[in-house]
Amino acid sequence: MSSPSIQRVSTPYSGVVKLLRLCELASDDVLVDLGSGEGAIPALAALVFGVRKAVGVELDPALVGKSRETASALRLGVDRVEFILGDMFSLDLGKFDVVTIFQSQETIGRLLQKLFAELGDGARVVSYLLPLGTMSPLKLVRPARIEYPFYLYKAPLEYLGDDEAVRLLQEIAGFAEGAEREWALVSASIRG
Ligand SMILES: C[S@@+](CC[C@H](N)C(=O)[O-])C[C@H]1O[C@@H](n2cnc3c(N)ncnc32)[C@H](O)[C@@H]1O
Repeated sequence: MSSPSIQRVSTPYSGVVKLLRLCELASDDVLVDLGSGEGAIPALAALVFGVRKAVGVELDPALVGKSRETASALRLGVDRVEFILGDMFSLDLGKFDVVTIFQSQETIGRLLQKLFAELGDGARVVSYLLPLGTMSPLKLVRPARIEYPFYLYKAPLEYLGDDEAVRLLQEIAGFAEGAEREWALVSASIRG
């Protein structure tokens, strides 16, 4: 990744629950965290939100080992939480209802076509920190005490028009200034 600053950073623990709440998880959902780091997102999706299955895919063997230890300590079997050592670009995203992403701009740029091509209609995607290029988000939220915003999308993904893309960029710039915002819907771009 070209942004070493976020390469090993985890979504803050308090943020994980808020991120997962935003996904409106159901008990038959299958979730994947692309680049799962220490594994908190899949573990909490299964433990707290009771999804059918949560998967993490991660390139770093040490992080996958740690994630598997956590799942085992929480008595979450591989039928509930699975950590795959591998490249997210090798995974078929078509089988997932929910995709979570905390990646660099470069990785997101590479992911866009894959998300476009593989996600089934109705699949939800939440990206922490950065938006999915100029795709049209359903929601942008900045929870209290969480450093960066979450962006929620629903497949089929659509590109923003030029004016909307500018407005999105302005709102993102606004996030950088407003440090103390409550969990508030800052922008809602509801399609259709
Ligand atoms: C910013 S961390 C996010 C960790 C976790 N998802 C979270 O939110 O706490 C990004 C992770 O993605 C992993 N990663 C980067 N590129 C990857 C790829 N192509 N396939 C799988 N994992 C990747 C990195 O090793 C790193 O652990």
